[in-house]
Amino acid sequence: MQDKPIALVTGANQGIGLQIAKDLAAHGFTVLVGSRDLARGEAAASEVGPDARALQLDVTDQASITAAAERIRAELGRLDVLINNAAISNTSKQPGQSVEEYAKTTRPSNVSLDEMRAVWDTNVFGVLAVYQAMLPLLRRAPDARIVNVSSGVGSLTTNSDPAFPYRAIFGPVYPASKTALNALTLAMALELEPEGIKVNAVSPGFTKTNLNGYAGTETVEEGAREAVRVALLGADGPTGQFTRWENQTIPW
Ligand SMILES: NC(=O)c1ccc[n+]([C@@H]2O[C@H](COP(=O)([O-])OP(=O)(O)OC[C@H]3O[C@@H](n4cnc5c(N)ncnc54)[C@H](OP(=O)(O)O)[C@@H]3O)[C@@H](O)[C@H]2O)c1
Repeated sequence: MQDKPIALVTGANQGIGLQIAKDLAAHGFTVLVGSRDLARGEAAASEVGPDARALQLDVTDQASITAAAERIRAELGRLDVLINNAAISNTSKQPGQSVEEYAKTTRPSNVSLDEMRAVWDTNVFGVLAVYQAMLPLLRRAPDARIVNVSSGVGSLTTNSDPAFPYRAIFGPVYPASKTALNALTLAMALELEPEGIKVNAVSPGFTKTNLNGYAGTETVEEGAREAVRVALLGADGPTGQFTRWENQTIPW
């Protein structure tokens, strides 16, 4: 077993995940750059630096998840930090279609169940499957952490407020997938509290990435900050929290 702490970031070949990988490497981690496409993962890992290794990991493919966990066990023996970052926002938004227009076609009354299932497969069930596979490795670390990259758009409290200006885009596909991820976060935190493994959710803020057609207003450096801060929390840090930079609580 090696001395350097080991982090796995899912969906780290681009966007916020890639920046989280770079930041954790800068903090002395050996970083496993999860990518569903190995070649893109290798390109990203070489961008991160010598302490990064590409790891083929499609969070919707159980064989890929199992193989990734086995490789970490064989090569590194444990996992100190798991960042569940991989997500998709949709599979069917038309080019040029605005978020508001897409939201109108994906209300509870008219949403395609296939569309909803595809997004939840990645954003919800994918996170749970990776959690189950990586937990034995996290349990072998002295002070493990899990960070689930969620979104403020999943907050039920915020969207229940008639004064919230963006509540029209709250719907069953991406926003509710993040609500479900928040619920999983709390369930994981409660399960692992007796073992001292911390599980928290963070929101990066509206960040310029492929996920939103680069319409975001924050840089990836800004989007990555809260996930990295929470990943580095000390042994006395909190668990079961949902925050945005810098340590602002978001209501569930
Ligand atoms: N950007 C924002 O404004 C914003 C706001 C709030 C929350 N977030 C959250 O931040 C996280 C990162 O998103 P981002 O903005 O950086 O988007 P992004 O640039 O599109 O990155 C998403 C990453 O997830 C990967 N991914 C998608 N499906 C996957 C699968 N089945 N298996 C493995 N990896 C998969 C993508 O891989 P490919 O390159 O192969 O597609 C990509 O590497 C997500 O959880 C997102 O919901 C983003």
